[in-house]
Amino acid sequence: MTTPPLQIPVPGELTSSTIHRYRDENGPVFRIELPGKVNAWAVTSFDTVNSVLSNDDIRFSKNPKNFTALHDGTIPPDWPLRQLIEGEHLLVKDGADHRRLRGLVNRAFTPGRVQGLEARIQEMTDELLDRLADEGEVVDLVRHFTEPLPVNVICELFGVPEEDRNQIRLWSGVLLSHTATPDEAGATGAALLGYLARFIDSKRGDPGDDLTTGLIRAQEDDGDRLSDSEMVWILWLVLIAGHETTVHLLANTIIALCADREQLDLARTKDAWGQVVEESLRSRNSVMNVLFRYPLEDVRLGEVTIPAGEPIMIAVAGSGTDPARFGEDAARFDIARGQETHLGFGRGPHFCLGAPLARLEARIALSSLFGRFPELRLAVDKGQIVYTPSFITEGPVELPVVLGPA
Ligand code: HEM
Repeated sequence: MTTPPLQIPVPGELTSSTIHRYRDENGPVFRIELPGKVNAWAVTSFDTVNSVLSNDDIRFSKNPKNFTALHDGTIPPDWPLRQLIEGEHLLVKDGADHRRLRGLVNRAFTPGRVQGLEARIQEMTDELLDRLADEGEVVDLVRHFTEPLPVNVICELFGVPEEDRNQIRLWSGVLLSHTATPDEAGATGAALLGYLARFIDSKRGDPGDDLTTGLIRAQEDDGDRLSDSEMVWILWLVLIAGHETTVHLLANTIIALCADREQLDLARTKDAWGQVVEESLRSRNSVMNVLFRYPLEDVRLGEVTIPAGEPIMIAVAGSGTDPARFGEDAARFDIARGQETHLGFGRGPHFCLGAPLARLEARIALSSLFGRFPELRLAVDKGQIVYTPSFITEGPVELPVVLGPA
């Protein structure tokens, strides 16, 4: 007998703070109906999330062609985040195809390249902070700080010239907006892909010390290289996967620290910004759910058997507040709890490619913001903050704060 899918009242209800209600009532694995009337399985406890992510991506495919309902090879127009799963990039590749692409990308997206951005990230952060004080008494930190910084950093990583950055930001904003129509998203996606193709071409004649030049030059020992189209999709994915995730990570952490001055003082006095970032990724991750895995055979997870080909949505944020793993106070933001493993950046073959960059950027941004404005506080009650209507990411639409003296 099939259990009817759970109707999640608001798409963004499976957050790190509300998921326990659903988990308590339905167990760690349950059926849900996503926007677009897509039926899926939510996997929500630390152990079940860990088990699906760590499993090799042969048994749990990322390729939507393995979704049984897509037998004719087309993706329905109202499928959630259609643009993301329609592409030809790392997030929809499995096994050897995925390893090949990831290996070539790793040759260009090296720890040294990320570390080399540190001074520029600090400069770009300081420029935004310099301008903040001119905005008046109450400032929307999403608009003036958490949103512009990540996209500027990604443009810097790519080597995009200053004059094109605003356009990239606008395109990325439309693609990540939760209100764009499929037509708008389609046209914007095509414009961005077209730009990236021309941009890569221009980099061939004008190489620099940037990721794009690194991708053009990346070559395996056997001579294998990335095709033009593969490079376009890599840059596209890095922009889409690295933008909103980081915007929300910054904003969610600022909210947590403003709501608990003791934690803020601890972060400052112990210079524990690295722990702040990890605790935020664990307890209020900006990536609420990860899209999708399609089991290639029936799989037993906990008490439930998921039939082959049915989409699995992985509640990474929920896994961080699972009391069975992190104790009864799992939802509490506490940087003194020690370095527990979390799944905020995923695990296994698709582990976040940008984790070192996100960590570096968040540490610089948060320490600089609270260093410059020590008395910064929320301008509204925490309960009044409005969150983006998404079931994928979690973060505030606006973040009004009073900066206080610099
Ligand atoms: C993959 C989280 C920032 C690029 C992932 C995955 C998670 C994640 C959970 C795994 C997806 C899966 O298993 O299906 C986050 C969080 C971020 C962040 C919480 C920030 C707070 C970034 C940044 C970049 C980036 C800054 C790039 C500059 C990617 C890419 C993948 C990925 C390319 C796909 C890797 C693959 O499939 O092999 N991220 N991410 N992410 N992330 Fe991030």
